[in-house]
Amino acid sequence: MCGIIGCTGVKCASEILYKGLEDLEYRGYDSAGIAVLEGGKIISVKKQGRVCALKRAAEQLGGTSGIGHTRWATHGRPSDENAHPHTYGAFSVVHNGIIENYAKLKEELIEEGHEFSSHTDSEVVVHLLAKYYSGDLKEAVLSAVRQLKGSFALCILCAGYEGFVAVKYRNPIIVGVGEGALFAASDMPALCGLAESVAVLKDGQIAFASEGKISLCDFYGRPAALTLSPIPPAARGARLGGFPHYMIKEINEIPAAVKNTVQAFAEEKCFSALSRAAKKRGGFGDIVLCGCGTAYHSALAAAYHAEELLKIPSRAETAGEFRYRNSATGPKTLFIAVSQSGETVDTVEAARAAKEAGAYVVAVTNVPYSALTGIAYMSVPVRAGTEVCVAATKSYCGQIAALALIIASLKGGSAYSRTLSALKGIEAGCAAAISDCAVESAARACASSAGVYFIGRGIDYPVALEGSLKLKEVSYVPGEGYPAGELKHGTIALIDGGTLTIAIMTERTLGEKTASAVEQIYSRGGRAGVVYAEGCAPPELLERAEFAVKVPSFASCLSPIISVIPLQLIAYRTAVILGRDPDKPRNLAKSVTVE
Ligand code: M6R
Repeated sequence: MCGIIGCTGVKCASEILYKGLEDLEYRGYDSAGIAVLEGGKIISVKKQGRVCALKRAAEQLGGTSGIGHTRWATHGRPSDENAHPHTYGAFSVVHNGIIENYAKLKEELIEEGHEFSSHTDSEVVVHLLAKYYSGDLKEAVLSAVRQLKGSFALCILCAGYEGFVAVKYRNPIIVGVGEGALFAASDMPALCGLAESVAVLKDGQIAFASEGKISLCDFYGRPAALTLSPIPPAARGARLGGFPHYMIKEINEIPAAVKNTVQAFAEEKCFSALSRAAKKRGGFGDIVLCGCGTAYHSALAAAYHAEELLKIPSRAETAGEFRYRNSATGPKTLFIAVSQSGETVDTVEAARAAKEAGAYVVAVTNVPYSALTGIAYMSVPVRAGTEVCVAATKSYCGQIAALALIIASLKGGSAYSRTLSALKGIEAGCAAAISDCAVESAARACASSAGVYFIGRGIDYPVALEGSLKLKEVSYVPGEGYPAGELKHGTIALIDGGTLTIAIMTERTLGEKTASAVEQIYSRGGRAGVVYAEGCAPPELLERAEFAVKVPSFASCLSPIISVIPLQLIAYRTAVILGRDPDKPRNLAKSVTVE
């Protein structure tokens, strides 16, 4: 995580950098900082807290070149001293990633007389640059980066060099060319309105940006070609447009996200590409779906559906587990990596590991130019549009639609047509769920509960997990998602009058079973509410429930798109009632580019 930005050839570097940091703030908001070159000298300001804490100080700066950073702390608590840029000697550096061998490097540098002023891993970079610098910037950068292990995207400023240097290794950085000016940033939205054309740097590349020109080389100084292309429309940033928070704005965008994803599947001819891939491999023997957080929950829902429809062993795994496990993945495996950002390091590395094991890797992502699409053999787009809120909402619904289409394509002909026609009604179903779901009493119940448990069976279980994650991350109300039958195997010990259970019931055949679990909760003095589809919850249960939110019925493979909506709305309203900022929950960042 962390957002980094660099610019040169601009009228007022600090202004550009500050604005860019606002666009990158979703990547971390523990502290922020800016360094600019003024009269050949580096001047830097940094502050603990959100980017806005830096505003006053940034306004005092100018400069024509500079670098900026917004931090999600990994090594060293959020503080002014641990904020980036780190400045030492002739250099100032901002870093996104983790320098895994920093402790050893730091020890050596201290022995050589370097004095450190932070507790970060990143600070070693600026000391290495200072150590290797004797007037030749390129030599210093090459020598320094070759010492680093881990993952790093860097922007470097050097006193006397009118420009900046960008380095990429396993963390994203994009360079851009604008009118008379050059830029670099962790993500495209920060370059929109500044750069006309951009290039996503590859691992092991260094860009020297100065005097209107970007020169690329590898870590050994060998030149590389720079291929610029126009900024893709998908990179455009988002604005609140009258909504109080991005979370509620993005929930309202679910119908469009689903519609555009379905359209993109057809436009990109994913059906035939998948059929060809399956044929080439003589059919797939198993399916592994991987992701983290919300993306893992959509993967889990799809795994349930894939196994039922295709009768092929299908499972979902959290990416962080998959990559360090000796699984039986091989050439007959279809590996589907699900990630909104396409840059979550665990998911990217899991996809890389699956590819190395011979699997056919498909990326399902909302960001077409992401690292994940670069690894996959094939990409299935989610067209949810830029998602700003740290809590994923519309991207989850887009993922469920894309995954349902992938599975139906593998089944072929009539299954695909059935899914397509079911999807036709989903846009209206989502819109109805958004406007009709009365969640206020549910949110008030959540806000006053010591813990909230979400339960479901079958396809409702992954939705229970997602409902629980959403509530926890934006409201900080503790709780858990459970398979309805599993609560009684331990967690029921936590149930009392202070806890609330929300049962998700959209499976007609499983209603009675989930109702029994709710009865067990009542018998222990617990409270319960229900999110249900017509005919899926017994009337007695609905009468007794503290609240009952009805959602439109849909085919099981698509129902998570609808049943998640009231849960997202409940989480949002609970956060607002409790005075939390749902868009930027504490301790989190939207893109997790470190392990
Ligand atoms: O960009 P990704 O989909 O790979 O991100 C994965 C998770 O970090 C993400 O879903 C996270 O759990 C969200 N905060 C959930 O709302």
